[in-house]
Amino acid sequence: MIINQVDIQSHQPVLIKSLIEKLPLITGVWVDCTFGAGGYSKALLQAGARQVIGIDRDPNVSLQANALKARYGSKLELCEAKFSSLESILTQFGLKKISGVVFDIGVSSMQIDESDRGFSFQQDGPLDMRMSQKGFTASDIVNNASEEELANIIYYYGEDRSARIIARAIVRERTKQKILTTEHLSRVINSTVRRSNFKSKNNLNPSTLTFQALRIAVNDELMELNLGLLAAERVLDEGSMLAVVSFHSLEDRLVKQFIKSRSRQNSGQSRYLPDAEVSSPSFRELFKKVIKPSIEEISANPRARSAKLRLAVKIPSKNNQKKISKIEFPQVQFATGLQL
Ligand SMILES: C[S@@+](CC[C@H](N)C(=O)[O-])C[C@H]1O[C@@H](n2cnc3c(N)ncnc32)[C@H](O)[C@@H]1O
Repeated sequence: MIINQVDIQSHQPVLIKSLIEKLPLITGVWVDCTFGAGGYSKALLQAGARQVIGIDRDPNVSLQANALKARYGSKLELCEAKFSSLESILTQFGLKKISGVVFDIGVSSMQIDESDRGFSFQQDGPLDMRMSQKGFTASDIVNNASEEELANIIYYYGEDRSARIIARAIVRERTKQKILTTEHLSRVINSTVRRSNFKSKNNLNPSTLTFQALRIAVNDELMELNLGLLAAERVLDEGSMLAVVSFHSLEDRLVKQFIKSRSRQNSGQSRYLPDAEVSSPSFRELFKKVIKPSIEEISANPRARSAKLRLAVKIPSKNNQKKISKIEFPQVQFATGLQL
């Protein structure tokens, strides 16, 4: 698939001004784990980073990277990879420790706006949703997962209380005809939810949460975030920065619990990270309150409305990091042929 220059230019980086203003110092080598259209990488280079290594699992972003590379030369490198492989990427560049890591989680405007990618219920397209364009698609899940698996995906990854009725309607529909397009799936969801008189959260379109849930499942997004944060913790040098922008509550909860649990001597009551696993802190949270976009930013870029930025600085840690094994988060297992 070809993306054109108009698509490429349409991604407005979210919270970028706040990020650059709130970071105490930008020097050394940074990793931009979610390169997208390169807005964060460019801002970091302009603000003083010596080099930025951009990571993105979407092969389409290389087009945008080429334009920026022509400007920044070897100060900007791009790897097509998942950010969970952060450490092996750094090894390729002969690096062990870095000055900062930034995650701007989720999908880019180019991915949402390109109907062929199947991320949006607002345009018809193949039910795909793969950021990397590899592996199984949303349509594979919708047409093959059991009703219970579908309901669990929609409930845990979409936090949608109408998960069971939507799953039942999908299974009923696919026995008549396979669901292969975003329009078809959205039609099934809308008619089911409307008939059930279910009130959706914040007057969302009834398809919103199911599409979010399928996207998370297809791209194994929570596991990726979990592994990415753990890798960042290992590669950040003392005094270096972790910055994470998230767009929905599941992601933000995971990031918040990770930073909070790593920022205190003994973690608090967290269902994501049991007390016993943390002893010596490895981060200091920079701001107690999460950073949100201003009204002006939201009116200029409505996609920024749910964004949240969290910042932490790596501190010398005595320890025992080996004892810290995992962050807990919802994980839906597939028993019927599709494995995440
Ligand atoms: C919100 S966009 C980032 C936009 C970017 N900050 C900018 O200013 O243009 C998120 C990007 O991260 C990529 N991405 C999401 N999860 C990823 C993962 N686990 N590994 C690598 N890239 C990922 C997506 O393909 C997408 O291009």
